[in-house]
Amino acid sequence: MIKLFINVDHVATVRQARLHVEPDPVQAAMLAELGGADGITIHLREDRRHIQDRDVALLKATIKTPLNFEMAPTSEMVEIVTDLVPDQATLVPERREEVTTEGGLRVDSLQDELKKTVERIQRAGILLSCFVDPRPESVKASREVGADAIEINTGRYSELAGAEEREEELGRIHQAADLAASIGLAVHAGHGLTYKNVGPIAQVPHVEELNIGHNIVARAIFVGMERAVREMAEAIRLAEAEVRHLR
Ligand code: PXP
Repeated sequence: MIKLFINVDHVATVRQARLHVEPDPVQAAMLAELGGADGITIHLREDRRHIQDRDVALLKATIKTPLNFEMAPTSEMVEIVTDLVPDQATLVPERREEVTTEGGLRVDSLQDELKKTVERIQRAGILLSCFVDPRPESVKASREVGADAIEINTGRYSELAGAEEREEELGRIHQAADLAASIGLAVHAGHGLTYKNVGPIAQVPHVEELNIGHNIVARAIFVGMERAVREMAEAIRLAEAEVRHLR
């Protein structure tokens, strides 16, 4: 069964809109767990626009499921993650001006720097994943730098409106997942996934974990976090069952 990790960054976004104490991503994480989340994901950004250092410490101390810490490969974040020791760290590119993560990490052009970062994080006992676009070069380079897993960026798949283009991108995601599995990398996926578009991604062979945030938090405003998570978990289970039936 695919693990559903809930990204609670945007609960903190609403709180930071008022620089106040609520809504609290720590409470959101507890409710997400009640709704069936298999893990909690957070991205501590350099500019601290949503998740704060206080959230990171409290989530680590209180959640019952694994914590996935998304981070830019900077020395500040490496210090933080090796002190924190979450279950998993996912390396992502970060630009101050971006609204959200815009693309995968170009692992192939950053191999020398990333190798040291990966080593330091793994030495602390943390599973290391690289967020990459579905390009063979990035998948192979993730293996070369010693990563344990890749998270395939589904952002482009989610944005494409044309059926043909979307199928092509889905094909690239399938190929990237096959390649990753063939060279011993665990396969995760995420970014831009919704209740409507998650099905085909949940049916990609080798995908073990999905990281989903914005669409679930948006729905949680109206139906509550627990129910919003449960509904996403159901959409994933349905897609998995469909593909099992066909095989
Ligand atoms: N995976 C990664 C690496 C991300 O940076 C994000 C966004 O923080 C997500 C998954 C979740 O994306 P979304 O909020 O669009 O579901």
